[in-house]
Amino acid sequence: MHVEPGRVIMARTAPRLAGRASRPSSTCIVRRLAMAARASDELYRRAAKVLPGGVTANARTNAALGHPFYAARAEGPYLYDLDGRQYLDTCTSNGASLVGHGHPAVKAAVQKALDFGIACMFDGEAQVRLAERLVEQIPCFEMVRFTTSGTEATFYVTRIARAYTGRTRILKFEGHFHGFNDSLAFNFPAAGDGPATPKPRAETAGIPASAPGEVVVAPFNDAAGFVRLLDQHGDDLAAVIMEPINYDAGAILPEPAFLRTVREETARRGIVLIFDEILSGYRTGPNCAQGYLGVTPDLCA
Ligand SMILES: Cc1ncc(COP(=O)(O)O)c(C=O)c1O
Repeated sequence: MHVEPGRVIMARTAPRLAGRASRPSSTCIVRRLAMAARASDELYRRAAKVLPGGVTANARTNAALGHPFYAARAEGPYLYDLDGRQYLDTCTSNGASLVGHGHPAVKAAVQKALDFGIACMFDGEAQVRLAERLVEQIPCFEMVRFTTSGTEATFYVTRIARAYTGRTRILKFEGHFHGFNDSLAFNFPAAGDGPATPKPRAETAGIPASAPGEVVVAPFNDAAGFVRLLDQHGDDLAAVIMEPINYDAGAILPEPAFLRTVREETARRGIVLIFDEILSGYRTGPNCAQGYLGVTPDLCA
């Protein structure tokens, strides 16, 4: 069993425990943590038999805990673990729960959708209304295709860019994450390459040997380096894809001059500019990062 009492108490539960009328003794706290760890360990053992890594997405593995963090439920701004302990949720489902868990308006909308019936093979007014709303709010949106994951969205936008330009190669920035597509699963955050000329490095086994040849990796926020790479590879590039705010490496803003260069140079050379707003969407306001930064891409995932 793997327990890190100091880390868990200090980071997660100390304020709540300290606020109680009678503070539990440290022995009691350690016992409660051990019980919680036992519950998580037990679920982890079951999960590892049927889910790769005991999780439904790689990002949910948790080296600090020694097992994934398993949530029993969520309410408002809080998550509760298998032992009923409360945590402030600063992740908010990567943005999908920005208004908190179980918001009455969201619950009512979900209930209304269920009442409509689960007719997934057909569209109705709800899909049209949602698309109209998104087109109103998000500067680059003229039409919308709904997808079920970020990886699927980035897959389609790169395919559209390739179909539109008749070119194949994609330029991405080092440290930006766009899901696990063969074309984009390169040089995620915490890359070890030198900043000047990052080489495409596949982040998973199973990527075709030809795939690195179809990717150009550029350092972020280096306008001169970006233009140099476009001078070298621009004629082959279908698209430049980027997180407009690099949340996957810690919410790094683009330098205004850099972003201007990216927009102007891609437009000048007929390269499709794609913003991946899967994390930045709605965090800065209803018009997303593109509205906040005042730069409109050609396509957006
Ligand atoms: C910026 C960005 N793009 C794409 C993805 C992939 O999304 P998904 O995990 O839904 O496939 C993620 C996932 O965190 C992401 O942060």
